[in-house]
This record gives sequence, structure tokens and C-alpha cells, in this order.
Amino acid sequence: MIYLDHAATSPLRPEAHAAMEPFLGETFGNPSGLYAAGREAQSAVDRARSTAAQCLRARPSEIIFTSGGTESINAAMVGIAYAMRRADCGNHVITTAIEHHAGIHAAQCLEELGFEVTYLPCDRSGHVRATDLAAALRPETVLASVMLANNEVGSLQPIADMASAIHDWAKRHGGHRVMLHTDAVQAPGWLEIDVNALGVDALSLSSHKFGGPKGSGVLFLRRATPFRPLLHGGGQEMQKRAGTENVAGIVGTATALAIASSGISERSARVGALRERLREGIVAGVPDVLVNGCQVNCLPNNLNISFRGIESEALVAALDAHGIAVSSGSACSNSTWEPSHVLMAMGVPIRQAVGSVRFSLGEGTTAADVDGVLAVLPREVARLREATTAIAQHLAEPA
Ligand SMILES: Cc1ncc(COP(=O)(O)O)c(C=O)c1O
Repeated sequence: MIYLDHAATSPLRPEAHAAMEPFLGETFGNPSGLYAAGREAQSAVDRARSTAAQCLRARPSEIIFTSGGTESINAAMVGIAYAMRRADCGNHVITTAIEHHAGIHAAQCLEELGFEVTYLPCDRSGHVRATDLAAALRPETVLASVMLANNEVGSLQPIADMASAIHDWAKRHGGHRVMLHTDAVQAPGWLEIDVNALGVDALSLSSHKFGGPKGSGVLFLRRATPFRPLLHGGGQEMQKRAGTENVAGIVGTATALAIASSGISERSARVGALRERLREGIVAGVPDVLVNGCQVNCLPNNLNISFRGIESEALVAALDAHGIAVSSGSACSNSTWEPSHVLMAMGVPIRQAVGSVRFSLGEGTTAADVDGVLAVLPREVARLREATTAIAQHLAEPA
């Protein structure tokens, strides 16, 4: 298989697998247990928390382990906004039109709970402006949630500038507090993540995107950030996320994050060069293609391309038949076709969005993988275009 869908999920790192193994077997104690087996599990969780904190330049007490990116994002957005409103700080939330559905749907949930939500636009390259965020701030604003790196087109958002804009605005408004959360799910391994340099109050990660296990995630929650937990029950995760800890998942997460957090510039340079090889090869070998989104200020592993005249799902299926895994930019379910909300927000014409495919490279991607795709893609695109034209001609003929 040539796997170019790392933005969807990545293979488990062998080191994470090895670190998890004891906790899936003989070391099965509940961390809340007061006996030796419990203490052993608890100390593994504690070590993992310290490792994750170091990777993000946070304090261990600011790290909450969750079931993944979706939970972290929901907990941050709903938990912070709700706590802020309870403290009479206001009921306005700012987010963007290009968030992952976890963020968009959490924002819609907040609307149902009576919050007012502003969705910031982006430009043609998929970037949201810090000045737009500054202009959207109001005395009732309690939370801004903006993703660090977009999962469809790879655009990076100016989170540190947004934090400064919020800080400046707050100074001019008598110290009014506005919390800043970022969905950093696509960033580990490609960008340094320093919660202080970013200036965020909360940050969400999903373990399987950086070589950790599925169903595990991290929420960074800065000390003293107002927060109402999403899950209620026992007092785990410093009373912020109830439920018996997924010890193996937590250990695997911390192991994978530590590896992803080192060698970032070499990894990015190597994979970025492969991405360029793929982009140049496609642009040279396939007529009528358009690159969606940014070429600069973006993740090094992401390439989103529209193939005019074909539907992306047909191309994904055709490549799958050759053992190549890529992702379609549009979703077709129950015979309704749904264009990507990100490409729509970028102003990509529907005809172009229909044929968009995301290639997301990973640490293990090789030049041979890229060349393998380039050897097949032009032929498959031509074949699908011919089929589409033939169908259109057939339908145009009188019955
Ligand atoms: C940017 C972004 N945020 C959030 C998520 C949700 O992560 P998970 O499905 O692991 O909960 C994803 C997953 O694709 C993502 O790409």
C-alpha cells in the first residue's frame, strides 16, 4: 500500500506500541487503586503527563488526557465557554468557518445552549486574519477557538498574533478576559508546539495523528482557566475529566508525542521536498489541475488538488484499486453530495471542489511512494475524464 492519508490517521509508532504493551497485559491495575498494581499504573500516568507537559512547554498539572481530539476540542470549547458564562463574563464565542467538524459542531452546540457565535472567514489560501479576530471581539466575548493547522489544505493560522490581539484588546477593556483555544491536532511532528509562545489558554491534540494510539488525546488547559468538565464521575485527571484512565493509551500518547516533538525541522524539510516532488509531478503530468490552498505558511505534508471534470470519490476509488490511499475532499452520503466546508469558505468554485483530493504525506513516505502515485495518477484521471465525458454525451442525446 502507498499510504498518503496521514492527516486522517498515522501508523502506530513501534516505540509507542512497545511502551503500551505491559499495560494491555500484566500491568493492568486501576490507577486509583491504593495497592502496588494501582500505584504502578498511576506512576505510568504521572510519567506520561510530565513527558506530554515537557513537549508542549506546559506544567504537568495543565495536561488532561482525553479520548482524542474530538473530546479535547468539545471539552475546551463547551467547558470554558460555559464556565465563563456562569461567571457572568458574557456569552459570545468566536471561531472560524474552516475548523474541523469537531470544532464547528461544538460551536453549533454552544449556539443551541444560547451562545452567540461568530465564524471568521478565511482568504483564498485558507488563512484567517488576526485583524478579523480583533474586529470580532466584544465586551461579551468569552472564548476564541481557532485551529493551528487546517486538516484539509494545511494552512497555518496566526495563533500567536491572535493571542496578542486578544491581550491588547483586553488591556483596552479593563482587563476583560477572553480565553483562546487552538485545535492543534494536525501540528505535532511538523510544528514546534509551545503553549507559551502561542499564548493559548487551551490546546487540543489527538494521539493517532502523531503515531500514538486511536481513542487517546491531550487537552492542555492553562492554570486558572475557567472550566466546567464535560464528563462527571470520579475525580480523575485533577477533577477535570472523570473516568478510569486509559493507561495504555496515555503511555502510548506520551511516547509518540515525545518522538514527534524531536527532529521537526529535518522531518519537515524531507517530507516537504517529497510533497513538492508530488505537486510538480502532478502539475506536469496531469492537465487541468488546480492546487487548493497555500503553498507557503502551511503544513509540509499536505497537498490538496482539484482534478477538473471528475468527482474526487471516483478518483479515490480508482487509486485504491492500485493500493494507493488518499482522501477525497468531498463527502457523498445517501446520494447527497456535500462539498468541503473548508474549500467553500476559501471561495473555491463548486466545480473545482467536486474534484478535490487530499494527499497527506507522513514520516514514512518515500520518493518511491510519490513516484508510484505519479506512475498511476495521469492514466486514471484521463480514464475517469473520458468516462465522465461519455456519460455526459450519452445523457445529452435525445432518448
Ligand atoms: C484538525 C482536526 N481536529 C480534530 C480532529 C478530530 O480528531 P479525532 O477524530 O481523533 O477525535 C481531526 C481529525 O481528523 C482533525 O484533523
